[in-house]
Amino acid sequence: MEMREQWRSRWGFVLAAAGSAVGLGNLWGFSYKASQGGGAAFILLYLLIVLVVCLPVLVAEMVLGRSTGSSPLLAPVKAGGKLWQPMGWIFVIASCAILSFYAVLMGWTADTFFHSLFFGLPQSIEEAKAFKDSVSNGSSVFLGQLLSLGLTAAVVSAGIRGGIEKIAKWSMPLLFGLVIILAIWSSTLPDAWLGYKEFLLKWDSSKFFAPKTIRLAFGQAFFSLSLGIGIMVAYSSYLNKKNQLPKEALIISGMDTAVAILAGMVTFPIVANFSEVIKPVIEEDKGSFITTFFVALPTGLSSLGITGQIITVLLFSLTFIAALTSAISLLEVPVSSLIDGFGWNRNKAVIFSTLFIFVIGVPSALSGKFLGKMFAYSEVLLLIGGFFISILLGWFVTRNYDQDLAECNSQIGVRRYLKFMLRWVSPIAIGFGLFVSVYDLLKPAAT
Ligand code: TRP
Repeated sequence: MEMREQWRSRWGFVLAAAGSAVGLGNLWGFSYKASQGGGAAFILLYLLIVLVVCLPVLVAEMVLGRSTGSSPLLAPVKAGGKLWQPMGWIFVIASCAILSFYAVLMGWTADTFFHSLFFGLPQSIEEAKAFKDSVSNGSSVFLGQLLSLGLTAAVVSAGIRGGIEKIAKWSMPLLFGLVIILAIWSSTLPDAWLGYKEFLLKWDSSKFFAPKTIRLAFGQAFFSLSLGIGIMVAYSSYLNKKNQLPKEALIISGMDTAVAILAGMVTFPIVANFSEVIKPVIEEDKGSFITTFFVALPTGLSSLGITGQIITVLLFSLTFIAALTSAISLLEVPVSSLIDGFGWNRNKAVIFSTLFIFVIGVPSALSGKFLGKMFAYSEVLLLIGGFFISILLGWFVTRNYDQDLAECNSQIGVRRYLKFMLRWVSPIAIGFGLFVSVYDLLKPAAT
């Protein structure tokens, strides 16, 4: 067997993991869910879940990858024995399922980008409708999906150092720069504060306990951190002992949350400022979760002429780059598993996985409704994955957690805290989140 590849540098790993975390979930999902889940109540709950529930699980996923040096398919077995094999399969299947619809969303992003760049922005409701159709219906959807999967496959086939690490190193700084510039620009809009109020300050305590808010916040926390289906297992299996995992987990989740909040600070002021144009577009298309971001924002910005066009083009190129670094992490799960578990070479594994993912993505490409369902249910899968990861490392193979973290010199207090949380808090909280999410999803008329 070949020597297992390793990241070139500590920052290479951190940026790649942050690149996985920062994606459509931050630029589009966070704002969308904040507006659905009642603004500040959603954000507070989300932050609480990230800090208290997710961080110990994130470290656990990293430990599982580094201590076994195996792909997500084999790592659970190596750590916990044959009984844990189904977990490996769930990781692989769930990542393929998520990438199947993620690539479609990414395709819409690419379509919106090209459309805004070459044909300009929609100026009226009629044009907005036509714009939406051209972005999310017909052959352009497949083209977008193919382009997205093709690029993703190209990066993954170039390997860890040559592909994934390289792209993360230039794209993450670029992405941060762009989102900050756009947030500053948005803050200069006359009604910017109305947007912030809607996003960050709208407080309704009843929302805090609403099942829908709880479901959205749990789902968003896991989705946005790429947690629960072995992404971090795959990435950490290429690590050496120098990386201090708890510190890195904190940096990764900090970057992820920062981009989500900055993205909200870009979009909410725009929505508030051009609400006269934007509201009718959103209402026209009730129930569609893509309209605000993909259609209404460009329509609103069109009133600014060329400035609006530049802002739109920048926003969607930023979103596409963020989505690409997330998609490659999703593809790395089946690819590393096929290499590891079946002895395939990287190219063969990439081609097979990509074709498979394209095929199972066809229903999502054909129906936005189907895609929405896939999204909601995949978040439940992430919670299930997270639950079992905390059980495996918190209760069954605690030695991995102890040893691995001791070897990278994490402080004893940090280790004790993380382990306590992993054993007692994360599984119970995730169990609760799962229960509420399933209840909320199955109740009639849930969206
Ligand atoms: N975290 C990414 C986002 O916010 C998407 C993503 C990448 C993901 N890998 C994942 C989601 C693994 C769930 C699981 O867009």
